[in-house]
Amino acid sequence: MMHASQLDTDGRLRHLLGLDGLPRVAIERLLDDAARLRAQWREHGMLPQALAGRTVVNLFFEASTRTRTSFDLAARRLGALVVNFDIASSSTSKGETVEDTLATLEAMDADAFVVRHKENGTPAMLAAHARRAAILNAGDGNRAHPTQGLLDLLAIRDRKGRVDGLSVAICGDIRHSRVARSDVHGLRALGAASIRLCGPAPLLPDASEFPDCAIEDDMDKALDSADVVIMLRIQRERIEHLPNLDADSYHARYGLTRARLARAKPDALVMHPGPINRGVEIASDVADGAQSAILDQVANGVFVRMAALAQLLER
Ligand code: NCD
Repeated sequence: MMHASQLDTDGRLRHLLGLDGLPRVAIERLLDDAARLRAQWREHGMLPQALAGRTVVNLFFEASTRTRTSFDLAARRLGALVVNFDIASSSTSKGETVEDTLATLEAMDADAFVVRHKENGTPAMLAAHARRAAILNAGDGNRAHPTQGLLDLLAIRDRKGRVDGLSVAICGDIRHSRVARSDVHGLRALGAASIRLCGPAPLLPDASEFPDCAIEDDMDKALDSADVVIMLRIQRERIEHLPNLDADSYHARYGLTRARLARAKPDALVMHPGPINRGVEIASDVADGAQSAILDQVANGVFVRMAALAQLLER
């Protein structure tokens, strides 16, 4: 399913399914709106209730801490009603299809659905079925996680002043990561100079999927002079045949330690979408260190989700 449907004929956002296919102006408009909402929130501790009277349904078919909470807070702080749909106790467990769940909740005048699903393409499929409601992808399989891509771009833009011209290393389990895929699309759209994808061979993607990225299994080479280092967790729940990787030897070869970080630029930004595994892909002192933007990423998440919800629902 293509993503053409996420923009309407006037170029306005109709759904948010992936950063691929979103033009640079659309991405920058979302980042600018997020930064404006953040400034207002930090100055006044409240925001205009742009979503008053609107209903947002969180449909999470996969575990989530930060993304679900972040969408929930974003919607509520703009005045929306939020329903956190409880999949385990829902009719999904009685055999109802996701499309029928959507139709049922749309019949109750839900305006937006925030969808996380283990199958690639579920949000796009729901967007094709939605009569009026907007669909926001909160992560589908290893395909896309657009709001994570946006919050990462915002963190980079804040701390580096720009994305244009930067060298970015993304390290860890690239193969199973929707975050890596959305980051690559966003970084490319905003003009990053080079993107290196690094990890052990079984966790690297097929080179044909990323023709414009360097693929590297040597972490020290990948980090060389990087402006931004994005670390990823090994996504065990998405790996059918887990290669023999014990945490200590993984950390020794692919963990971001202080010593290894020294290969990047002295002011390199360290990022991680969370959840972090301390002492596996990232050393605790690096995760908590001055170069880390991990909690800025989390903070930004609420504002990029506000920006997306507002653009989709303010009609
Ligand atoms: C990521 C996800 O679920 O895609 N987490 C997140 O949303 N912040 C990454 C992960 O699970 O490792």
